Amino acid sequence: MGHFNTDDFRSMDRIARLKLVNAISGVRPATLIGTKNDQGRTNLAIFNSIAHIGSDPPLLGLIFRPVDEVRRHTWENIMQSGWYTINHVHPEYIENAHQTSAKYPTEISEFKACGFCEEYVAGIQVPFVKESQVRMALELAEIVKIELNGTFLLVGEIKYLHIHDDVSLSDGQPDFTGIAAGVSGLNSYYNLQFVKELPYARIGNSQK
Ligand SMILES: Cc1cc2nc3c(=O)[nH]c(=O)nc-3n(C[C@H](O)[C@H](O)[C@H](O)COP(=O)(O)O)c2cc1C
Repeated sequence: MGHFNTDDFRSMDRIARLKLVNAISGVRPATLIGTKNDQGRTNLAIFNSIAHIGSDPPLLGLIFRPVDEVRRHTWENIMQSGWYTINHVHPEYIENAHQTSAKYPTEISEFKACGFCEEYVAGIQVPFVKESQVRMALELAEIVKIELNGTFLLVGEIKYLHIHDDVSLSDGQPDFTGIAAGVSGLNSYYNLQFVKELPYARIGNSQK
């Protein structure tokens, strides 16, 4: 394919650059963000920018595109309620999940429009995706603005985690094989395959 330097990136066609740069960080988990606004309307949108921030407290990050020019329902709803769910996309539902990125009006919920069922847990107001085998509810904890390009890092604390009974746990971690999809860029989806588990890496006989 070749190589690209700063000048190449600057002179590249906008769409070609967007596709290449969005994909180049590699395959990331495809997730669905479930939210609800003050009027009780639900919203569902696919996001691939999920990042582990820390485990004590359990924190995950999401990158949001700039919110000043285009209305973004997920963002608005999180600002209203302070809560959202993150649901891993089951491979059988890749097409449905991709369709949630279309610009539906506020009064249409992507849950219904894209063929997903809402599920609720006592004490949590935001909707989970029933078809997702690993899903969680988060409370907004911190917003960091990235001044360079106007995007935002949203940090949320996991307040509830559900792992379906069919998901096998190995060394305390879910095996995502067959139950979650990956995505590179904005439209190339992947199946995930567990390869192996390795012990904590040490140098020689060191106990550190
Ligand atoms: C595969 C994929 C991944 C996406 N990841 C993100 C993301 O991480 N952050 C973001 O702001 N938008 C992302 N989007 C775009 C949103 O899904 C899109 O803007 C959606 O319309 C937002 O819906 P809303 O207005 O209901 O919030 C992604 C789109 C696709 C197709």
